[in-house]
Amino acid sequence: MENRSQWGTRLGFLLAAMGSAIGLGNIWRFPATAFDNGGGAFFIPYLFALLTAGIPLLIMEYTIGHKYRSSAPRSFKRVSKGMEWIGWWQIGISFIISAYYPIIVAWAAMYAYFSFGQSWGDDPTGFFVGDFLQLADAGTFGSMVPAVLFPLLAIWAVVFLILGRGIKKGIEVANKIFIPLLAIIFIIIVIRAITLPGAVDGLEAFFAPDWSTILDGSVWVAAYGQIFFSLSIAFAIMITYASYLPKKSDITNNAFITGFANSSFELLAGIGVFAALGFMANQAGVAVSEVARGGVGLAFMVFPEIISQMPASGLFGFLFFASLVLAGLSSLISISETYIAGIQEKFNISRGLAVAIGGGIAAVASLFFANQGGLNLLDTVDYFINNYGVALAGLFEVVAIAWFARSLKDLQNYANDVSDIKLGYWWRFCLTFITPAVLGYMMLQNLSNDIA
Ligand code: PFF
Ligand code: NA
Repeated sequence: MENRSQWGTRLGFLLAAMGSAIGLGNIWRFPATAFDNGGGAFFIPYLFALLTAGIPLLIMEYTIGHKYRSSAPRSFKRVSKGMEWIGWWQIGISFIISAYYPIIVAWAAMYAYFSFGQSWGDDPTGFFVGDFLQLADAGTFGSMVPAVLFPLLAIWAVVFLILGRGIKKGIEVANKIFIPLLAIIFIIIVIRAITLPGAVDGLEAFFAPDWSTILDGSVWVAAYGQIFFSLSIAFAIMITYASYLPKKSDITNNAFITGFANSSFELLAGIGVFAALGFMANQAGVAVSEVARGGVGLAFMVFPEIISQMPASGLFGFLFFASLVLAGLSSLISISETYIAGIQEKFNISRGLAVAIGGGIAAVASLFFANQGGLNLLDTVDYFINNYGVALAGLFEVVAIAWFARSLKDLQNYANDVSDIKLGYWWRFCLTFITPAVLGYMMLQNLSNDIA
């Protein structure tokens, strides 16, 4: 076998895995999802999802990557000849995401810069869709949004540079800088947010449990969906990253650390975001629920307004958007690595060439989203990728491994040989029954919602 690249240290791997997991899903997806699905009561289905699906699947993906020491397609092929396509499916999803994710990172980079001059004036929403994205005649697809072009290309240049330098000198070094920096910035922001007037109202609104939701199937689906997305599961990412682990690595422990670190960051983000929303509601004299939202709207419409109302607004605006850039970049690197590893192995080419080809095609594809009307395209693609692409990828993966290849027992023995925490029947039970059932139910629910 070839001399496979390896992480330099255990911490390096963990920071890279956390870098992948910690992203926009934590900062703008989790707080709104929790708020919409029962607030404090959401933590029960959420913890359940983390322990019965998130961490078990993470352990499975780490084990597969570590055992077969290959990109996702070749790892699945080594499990069973007919399963290579599952890896390509996951890589395909990652590739599509890597075409639009950098757009959001580019927006965040622009907004970090805009923060100092408060360029959005007193109408952040109008500024975002009008001046910045030029969405006025969305639908007339075709003309570039010039403001996004330069930061987009700059972000791709950074990604090319990091990926080109390889696993240890590139990805590991980058995450060793990005993730601690992100943690520090985020803690500063959260402390600032919870000391703003009205913050307590925001936190009360966020944590107030609505127990009536606890038996609602859609709340459970939201919890599992959040966990899958947030832990970067079924994107081929964690298999790829684990394939660079040295022989002696504690797989199970690493999975628990990654899972809990990601959830801690999620909780921290929920506190920061809702403290800030409480402040905004307080300034406007409205209820927190009136201003609460997630996603692009939260980051680029609501937050600029909050920032403008804060003391030292330039600095805190910069820190907030810089944290989006750091979180987004480290996730983008991880998704891009999936197809770079995949094509490098498949076509037996050098890493540099794989970066140039894979990254090059993704960079060109990303230009479609830098168009007028790109936001609508981004929304649509994102919706289908999250609701069908990833759910199907997870379902294929777990059914293939647990039911068709029947390899869970093997994987369990393999993981137990290198790990302190020993997996037992509970682990196989979660992956054989709970995860497929939840993913199947999720698919059916999404389908019935979309058809209705
Ligand atoms: N785990 C990431 C997050 O929570 O934001 C999700 C993610 C999405 C990772 C897309 C990577 C990616 F390409
Ligand atoms: Na996450």
